[in-house]
Amino acid sequence: MSDEKVIIGVIGGSGLYNLDNLTPLKQVNPETPWGLPSSPITICALPSGKKVAFLARHGIGHTIHPSTVPSRANISALKSLGVRAILAFSAVGSLREEISPGSFVLPNQIIDRTKGVRPASFFEGTSIVAHASFGDPYSNKFVSWLESRVKKALDEEGRGVKLFTDKCIICMEGPQFSTRAESLMYRQLGGDLINMSALPEAKLAREAELSYALVATATDYDAWRPEEGTVTAAEVFKTLTQNANTSRHVAATILEEVHEAFAADGGDMLEEVGSMKLSIMPR
Ligand code: ADE
Repeated sequence: MSDEKVIIGVIGGSGLYNLDNLTPLKQVNPETPWGLPSSPITICALPSGKKVAFLARHGIGHTIHPSTVPSRANISALKSLGVRAILAFSAVGSLREEISPGSFVLPNQIIDRTKGVRPASFFEGTSIVAHASFGDPYSNKFVSWLESRVKKALDEEGRGVKLFTDKCIICMEGPQFSTRAESLMYRQLGGDLINMSALPEAKLAREAELSYALVATATDYDAWRPEEGTVTAAEVFKTLTQNANTSRHVAATILEEVHEAFAADGGDMLEEVGSMKLSIMPR
């Protein structure tokens, strides 16, 4: 494990394989009890010299399938660097007309439609029985704090990218996209967005007592619109590059302030610290 202390981690999803608008300082590749992370982690400097850690969830050349992302190694590797808060990005399909491709969303709820094939707890395979609180799967304070900052960054970029909040993301297994019937069902369930990567990352961040928020970037309308074709990988790829450029702009604009917000020990934003204390079943 590295002894480099970096308190903010950024996880990039499909299309976002670097933060090359920041200054790369070095790469680290911490070996964890759960193996190596998806990619070596790039330590980048912000203009002030403060450092952030960037990790590509699917590997730098997008070689890792959503079902096999080594999420335990990813979260553990970031935590080993000293990370306290993770700002994650992920491409998503939209289940709502108003969330058009290109929109950005800060979701606050998740419905788990993964199929039990992804290791989703650090306690799996141990004799420790732990039940993390997950009713609010994202860190509420961090998400509310981000709202005005991300909005401002998007407005400053000047491309008219909209930001939505208070939305529910469905995390499905894949690799195939949903059927039309499933897509319609997810809307009825209350889903606003759909992707294949929201979990188990958020669950593991909670077990690791890290503050965690997701910036979801819409690429398509999935398969629920009766008069339209259903989502294809080619359609997703079309919006990925622009969404990734906007994500880099948002990251570069807000990360100094994110760093400040999490820098003070015991600061208000560290709401997950200590959250696992009473989660382990007494023997
Ligand atoms: N990622 C991006 N678009 C998606 C969709 N429609 N379904 C699942 N994952 C996605």
